[in-house]
Amino acid sequence: MGVYIHWPFCVSKCPYCDFNSHVYGSIDQEQWIAAYIKSLEHYAELLPDKQVISIFFGGGTPSLMSGKSVAAIIDTVQRLWSVANDLEITLEANPTSVEISKFKSFKDAGVNRISIGVQAFNNDDLKFLGRGHDVSDSLRAIEIASSMFERYSFDLIYARPQQSLGAWEVELKDALKYAKGHLSLYQLSIEKGTPFYKRHNSGEFAIPDEVQGADFYHLTQDIMEDAGLPAYEVSNHAQAGQECRHNLIYWNMADYIGVGAGAHGRFMMGEDKYASKDNHIPDKWLKDVTHKLEKLSAEDRFIEDVMMGLRLRDGISIKRCEDVLDIDKLADICAQDWAQLNGDNLSLTREGLLRLNAIIPYILK
Ligand SMILES: C[S@@+](CC[C@H](N)C(=O)[O-])C[C@H]1O[C@@H](n2cnc3c(N)ncnc32)[C@H](O)[C@@H]1O
Ligand code: SF4
Repeated sequence: MGVYIHWPFCVSKCPYCDFNSHVYGSIDQEQWIAAYIKSLEHYAELLPDKQVISIFFGGGTPSLMSGKSVAAIIDTVQRLWSVANDLEITLEANPTSVEISKFKSFKDAGVNRISIGVQAFNNDDLKFLGRGHDVSDSLRAIEIASSMFERYSFDLIYARPQQSLGAWEVELKDALKYAKGHLSLYQLSIEKGTPFYKRHNSGEFAIPDEVQGADFYHLTQDIMEDAGLPAYEVSNHAQAGQECRHNLIYWNMADYIGVGAGAHGRFMMGEDKYASKDNHIPDKWLKDVTHKLEKLSAEDRFIEDVMMGLRLRDGISIKRCEDVLDIDKLADICAQDWAQLNGDNLSLTREGLLRLNAIIPYILK
């Protein structure tokens, strides 16, 4: 089982981001950590026999937590469950000087993988993205992470306004010099309810259209394949063996619990699979950390298997999901070269992954 810990606080809100993150004046970490521990204890009563293979601190900005808070949560997980020998413990970090100075305390707490929100190697674009760091901060964060952690990754956002394909090619190839085994590369998406949504709609800036977006995507795949870090999921690239195990839990629909405002989980209890979603308002979550569970029907489960599994290069077993798949339509997408069938395994090609959001509703019965 994976354990996802959501820390829903940020120093400021980036104008493109629709993650459940909030800006609070001050946070009493001890009070919040007590709530996380209580919530984990609640799960341990429900799921005493699971073995934990991964802990992931996501956000928001979990690098705003103190080393002591992170340690308290890791210790609690280890007290409540048996854990794998090679337990993966990832923490998402923003590359500001304050947060970089805490890397050592995160390592001492047990974190063994850091994922850094670099976003761009271009100061003008970092400003446009509303980031509180510049390129030199990112390089410093990467340098410290590489000296301290065996595994680290960083995130970049591409297909930015005004960005040319040529500029992205130079930037990504440059970024690869600093990468070690894993990179997450996201095309900028304009999300409803964000400041970028309004600004984009009012014509203040434009992002690449679908055709240009596809060119960015193919260029990215070509560069990453040549570099030996092919995509193992739509936006995640790794050398063989360096995939984020926690991410793979989501896409393989294995068990995970989610703790923290807005966090969700999926896990088997007995023969049944359950979904959880914590209250997304931090203050409400703090007052009541118990979980609302919903039993998933067999159909819901298979639909989720298809939606998550097809994001992966390795695809899905058709037999497992045949009740919800339209077999004639699978033949159509294979004929278009958007998917390939190898025995029981269905996986999308690169062209198919580009059309993922259209293909999934098409092939579901
Ligand atoms: C939970 S977020 C952030 C982690 C950390 N707080 C940070 O900002 O560095 C995970 C990643 O999603 C990506 N992301 C968030 N919103 C996005 C958007 N609208 N378009 C593309 N990528 C986005 C960013 O690369 C970000 O690092
Ligand atoms: S991108 Fe990261 S730092 Fe920015 S608001 Fe979202 S979660 Fe917070």
